[in-house]
Amino acid sequence: MVSKKILSAYLGAKEYMGPLKNELDNIIDVHEQLVLSASPPINTFWSINTWNNPEVLTIDSINDGVKKLKGIQRNWCLYSYQFHRRAKLIQEKLPHISAKPLQFPCHLPTSGIGSWTLLTQNQILASSKCSSVFKNGEVIFEEDKSGPPSRAYLKLYEALTRVEKFPQIGEFCIDAGGAPGGWAWVIQKLGARTLTIDRSPLDSRVSSLPNVEYRKGDVFSIKPSDFDKVDWLFSDVICYPEKLFEWISLWIDSKKCRNFICTIKLQGTTDYTIAKKFLGIEGSQVIHLYNNKNELTFIHTKPKLNN
Ligand SMILES: C[S@@+](CC[C@H](N)C(=O)[O-])C[C@H]1O[C@@H](n2cnc3c(N)ncnc32)[C@H](O)[C@@H]1O
Repeated sequence: MVSKKILSAYLGAKEYMGPLKNELDNIIDVHEQLVLSASPPINTFWSINTWNNPEVLTIDSINDGVKKLKGIQRNWCLYSYQFHRRAKLIQEKLPHISAKPLQFPCHLPTSGIGSWTLLTQNQILASSKCSSVFKNGEVIFEEDKSGPPSRAYLKLYEALTRVEKFPQIGEFCIDAGGAPGGWAWVIQKLGARTLTIDRSPLDSRVSSLPNVEYRKGDVFSIKPSDFDKVDWLFSDVICYPEKLFEWISLWIDSKKCRNFICTIKLQGTTDYTIAKKFLGIEGSQVIHLYNNKNELTFIHTKPKLNN
């Protein structure tokens, strides 16, 4: 039984619960991937779905649980860590929510979705307001097993879907550290042009595609002054976050590029000073994507100019 009032809850990715717990205060309990806190909700880097208004509902039967959840709102997704059968019976009586993988490119679901779990046989913890519009923060795409040469393309699928903005036909993109070519494959498929720079070669399946240019070399030798205008700067370079920050700052200051999606490769540290520096760039997000591994993603996009 929990005695302190739960004011927020955070669902983390299975492999990255440590960093999430480090970000949180007043932890009451941890139930597998769900961390309960007695502090009001905060923005974190590592939560994949934050439960912003959790409340405990006392229920005397499965039907009572269904009635109480439906009484709050229509869409609910279950996070189950115990009493799986009872929880499943409640969820099955709630309105159906599609579990189909997303087909990229696509828009975000328009209706929000609440989250709930069974704390005891007779106590539901339910949050109608959650940070993610996806079930348990899981952003699952229909995969292409033959086109892209690596699974890294799923990160770019997710980042672009989250901002609902995509490279357009004819736009020019720099794809830094892009080998073997998963991101270049996405950019090309959307109809944009990519200059992919890497020390390693691109997979021939990607380098042979139209609108894909490859340059072998060190990404950090490329400077904004080498270009008139860049529509998107993508980076998946494996490097120290400080080095990436320095390089990205040159591009931001130059105002030559409006859109950035860059992975920040962490060094297994709990010091988020550098992540906060990225976040300090006006209009930016720094998030742990569902499809990220031990990295955060810096996203900075601006509306299209009319001129
Ligand atoms: C995670 S992989 C990129 C995967 C790629 N986004 C994809 O979709 O296939 C990181 C790449 O960074 C490249 N890299 C690391 N340091 C670099 C540098 N200074 N200049 C160019 N490429 C670099 C590596 O060669 C490697 O191919």
